[in-house]
Amino acid sequence: MILIIDFGSQYNQLIARRVRELKVYCQIEPPGIELSQIESVAPRGIILSGGPASIYEKGSPKVDFRIFNLGIPILGICYGMQYLIHNLGGKVERALKREYGLAELRVLDSNGLFRGVRTVTPCWMSHGDSASLLPAGFKITASTENTAAAAVENRKRNLYGLQFHPEVSHTPQGKKMLSNFLFGVCGCEKNWTMKLFIEREIEEIRSEVADKKVILGLSGGVDSSVTAVLLNKAIRKQLTCIFVDNGLLSTDEGERVKRTFRDHFKINVRYINARKRFLVPLKGVIDPERKRKIIGKTFIRVFEEEAAKIRGAHFLAQGTLYPDLIESRSPFGGPSAVIKSHHNVGGLPKKMRLKLIEPLKHLFKDEVRILGTELGLPEDIIYRHPFPGPGLAVRIIGEVTPRRLSIIRQADDIVTDEIKRSDQYRKLWQSFAILLPLKSVGIMGDRRTYEHIVVIRAVRSTDAMTADWARLPHPLLVRISNRIINEVRGVNRVTYDISSKPPSTIEWE
Ligand code: XMP
Repeated sequence: MILIIDFGSQYNQLIARRVRELKVYCQIEPPGIELSQIESVAPRGIILSGGPASIYEKGSPKVDFRIFNLGIPILGICYGMQYLIHNLGGKVERALKREYGLAELRVLDSNGLFRGVRTVTPCWMSHGDSASLLPAGFKITASTENTAAAAVENRKRNLYGLQFHPEVSHTPQGKKMLSNFLFGVCGCEKNWTMKLFIEREIEEIRSEVADKKVILGLSGGVDSSVTAVLLNKAIRKQLTCIFVDNGLLSTDEGERVKRTFRDHFKINVRYINARKRFLVPLKGVIDPERKRKIIGKTFIRVFEEEAAKIRGAHFLAQGTLYPDLIESRSPFGGPSAVIKSHHNVGGLPKKMRLKLIEPLKHLFKDEVRILGTELGLPEDIIYRHPFPGPGLAVRIIGEVTPRRLSIIRQADDIVTDEIKRSDQYRKLWQSFAILLPLKSVGIMGDRRTYEHIVVIRAVRSTDAMTADWARLPHPLLVRISNRIINEVRGVNRVTYDISSKPPSTIEWE
């Protein structure tokens, strides 16, 4: 495996993606990692990531400098390279001009990291400081116009530095350079596959859980579904899934979950019909935050009650993914700091005194999808759009009532159906309907109508942090609009949301 030390760069998850694309397992760890811990995982190589700090800044991230004496090959990228140079007796200086953007890399030595790389190739720079004096034993292997030491190496000690970012797509031959490091320098093997992951994970789950019981909150989304199937494969009847029907789900969601998990996978699923317990306290509530709080609290209460009925439960399983894990412990807080806190059902484990078990915590979303496919989950679960925990309540602006739930469900079914038929579903991050608390005048036949307005929202995104409204083909919008107005009673107007995030959010509440 390859160890990536996280100095806080916005790109370091990308380094991990690239390494795994090359079929080598890697893990991102914070700079505070103990030397003994590094020695115990015995990585084939270490990558020091970039980061926003300058090494001269007070409080800039530091890793135990003795890692340079372990005899493990090291590649420093950007800040990581400066850290390496600075700690091995070289000099790093604040450059007069900050270099940011594309530069032309001229390769001076076509061995080492640049084997098979063109002698002139674009690279992506983003730095203020640069190396002005190399430590003994180092030499320059590539330069750009503004940065003489764009790449350095000490081949005897297997220490390498790149001032630019090989992991981004703007460095088209970067993957080749990383590949040279992994296979040429570190001697890694291409053995990171899902089959191996499943085998290893099942063994680990079995040894951790032993003969105890595990509870999992199943939502029907990709992450909890894959977690359920993986755990089921490992511990079968020791797993109990709790599915809470809060009355705010899309059509047939409860039935679908029962069918897939209970009937097909033979997983122990407790289906809890708690619709009334959610809908009663939501009566008359209009404020979005109050709605969310009511739903969040009710969920915890219902879940706790059900969990308490499962005697001898020791573990609570969650479908936490790698980006959540990395961001929550990044030296700079990471983007998770800005995500609304109610997105995750935190707080559950501490109160319930259950030990957490998170088998997906080292996977990225697309890896979870590959894993799900390998485990035999149907495509419609694997490629499902995200659905918010508070469900349709945040897509009904104003009060949530049975009548309004029925309207939004019918409209949403039409949106999903048409989007799927048109082959747009996989290209979109999300697509759904929103019901406004307004009426407008229309004409149907010869009669005046005064009815509800439905909004369609469809966005493209890679991580929901930013999103762009989707330019859906007009004929598709025509079909959706016609069908909603013709088929959903009480609606006489459909509009399309053309706002991106930021400044708008994806959900309306
Ligand atoms: P926003 O509306 O903040 O949403 O742009 C970003 C992404 O998060 C989803 N979302 C939620 N997911 N519980 C969830 O599990 C929630 O309370 C919640 N609120 C929003 C939203 O659908 C989008 O994908």
